[in-house]
Amino acid sequence: ITVYVPQDAVALGLGANRVARAIFAGAERRGLDVRIVRTGTRGLLWLEPMVEVATSEGRIAYGPVTPADVEGLLDAGFVQGGAHALRLGKPEEIPFLARQHRLTFHRCGVVDPVSVEDYRAHGGYRGLEAALKREAEGVVAQVRDSGLRGRGGAGFPAGIKWNTVMLAQSDQKYVVCNADEGDSGTFADRIMMEGDPFNLIEGMTIAAVATGATRGYIYCRSEYPQSFKTLRDAIANGVKAGVLGDNILGSGKSFHLEVRLGAGAYICGEETSLLESLEGKRGIVRAKPPIPALKGFLGKPTLVNNVMTFTAVPWIMEHGAKAYAEYGMGRSLGTLPIQLAGNIKHGGLIEYAFGITIRQVIDEFGGGTASGRPVRAVQVGGPLGAYFPDELLDTPLDYEAMAAKKGLVGHGGIVVFDDTVDMAKQARFAFEFCATESCGKCTPCRVGATRGVETMDKVISGIRPEANLKLVEDLCEIMTDGSLCAMGGLTPMPVMSAITNFPEDFRRAGDLPV
Ligand code: NAI
Ligand code: SF4
Repeated sequence: ITVYVPQDAVALGLGANRVARAIFAGAERRGLDVRIVRTGTRGLLWLEPMVEVATSEGRIAYGPVTPADVEGLLDAGFVQGGAHALRLGKPEEIPFLARQHRLTFHRCGVVDPVSVEDYRAHGGYRGLEAALKREAEGVVAQVRDSGLRGRGGAGFPAGIKWNTVMLAQSDQKYVVCNADEGDSGTFADRIMMEGDPFNLIEGMTIAAVATGATRGYIYCRSEYPQSFKTLRDAIANGVKAGVLGDNILGSGKSFHLEVRLGAGAYICGEETSLLESLEGKRGIVRAKPPIPALKGFLGKPTLVNNVMTFTAVPWIMEHGAKAYAEYGMGRSLGTLPIQLAGNIKHGGLIEYAFGITIRQVIDEFGGGTASGRPVRAVQVGGPLGAYFPDELLDTPLDYEAMAAKKGLVGHGGIVVFDDTVDMAKQARFAFEFCATESCGKCTPCRVGATRGVETMDKVISGIRPEANLKLVEDLCEIMTDGSLCAMGGLTPMPVMSAITNFPEDFRRAGDLPV
């Protein structure tokens, strides 16, 4: 009897280890021969820990399971798929999962994350095998033709970046994965690293083969200890199995991969600051040009992509660029891993073709707010993304459509707020976040963010709110135009969207003397 218990950070936080121990002990007492396999999560986070059992009809899920539920589950014969109040049926038939387009995440929550054998048994390494049969130009052409754009947030065409690194002449090139997933409300990278790390390793290996890099680094944020451990174990197993190191898959090509831990700075998610940190220096933004594709890690050509960009590649290589490009809309092709969080009933990971609207995500997947109160504001794209009111929720998740509404897709995080939110406080928070996380290199961001907090405080306290709001607007203009990177450059987006879309929250106190 095989029982699957997730061990990603969310499930662990909700007691998955205690659940696994209780199942093991209870089964032993009953003389049942139970094997427990620890998996990642399928991304239905409100149902975690979601435990699955292998039956003759396929896997049957139960959740959310607490240690106190285990005896009752065993009595109900859950290891044979027996009836119980927590029985959810076949996981792939749960509407939240059944409605998705799981191209990149299809193995998450299914496989043993650190087993090369399990990965291969579920279709792993077919993409790399296909890539090894092609010339480097052919691999890069597939990535280009798939329409894949950088999933870290900027949406830069991946094929162009890969081509730049491939064409760069150098004795050494690098592939670097940005796994410093710092945006509030985002967790897709984490779910992937903890649930299917070989998908990332395979994607990075394909990138290395295509660009001529022989060394790679995964820069993982320190707040993700479970991801770090899973990646380290997966890499060690990959070397033993011959899918990493010298002579990968018997091709004669080498790719050496290491995982490095950050130190908790949001700005190290910015690629040049990340490279500084990777080199052992303080994480301060470098001016571009030169772009990392030409002068990156240790001054050598470096392909820097986000976890989600690399992990889209094995599917593309296996199924072809055309098949991937059939998903999506306009110039946003393929699928977007949407992360639904905040005040929402059913939060979790939704992989879906670009073009789905924000409202569809909230209503059809999220099931409305957790509080049961009406949705008032939705922030899309992390702490630097815009706050949208109800009137803008029919905007499709598409890079251009979001930009047209003065918002961004970012890394695909959606954070929902109900009608108790105070948008003036949210605007203040955007400045405060920037002041805390600024690397300090340029004045508009370093000084602007702090002045922004002070000025917003005056607005909130009712001290000349009209005049101070005008000052905030001026400040935002300077930060947008004069900042060196997206941290200072995009902080005005949440601030200005809050002021524009929710003006009533900024003009309550009336003018008071200074
Ligand atoms: P960017 O537009 O400057 O660059 C995008 C990428 O394209 C970079 O890797 C750059 O080196 C590369 N590039 C540009 N021109 C190129 C060329 N000619 N050839 C090859 N490569 C080229 O944007 P940036 O600053 O890298 O990212 C900003 C975005 O990051 C924001 O839009 C925001 O959505 C997102 N972001 C994501 C966060 C997360 O946690 N994932 C956190 C904060 C911001
Ligand atoms: Fe540093 Fe902010 Fe300037 Fe970016 S905008 S370089 S984070 S000071």
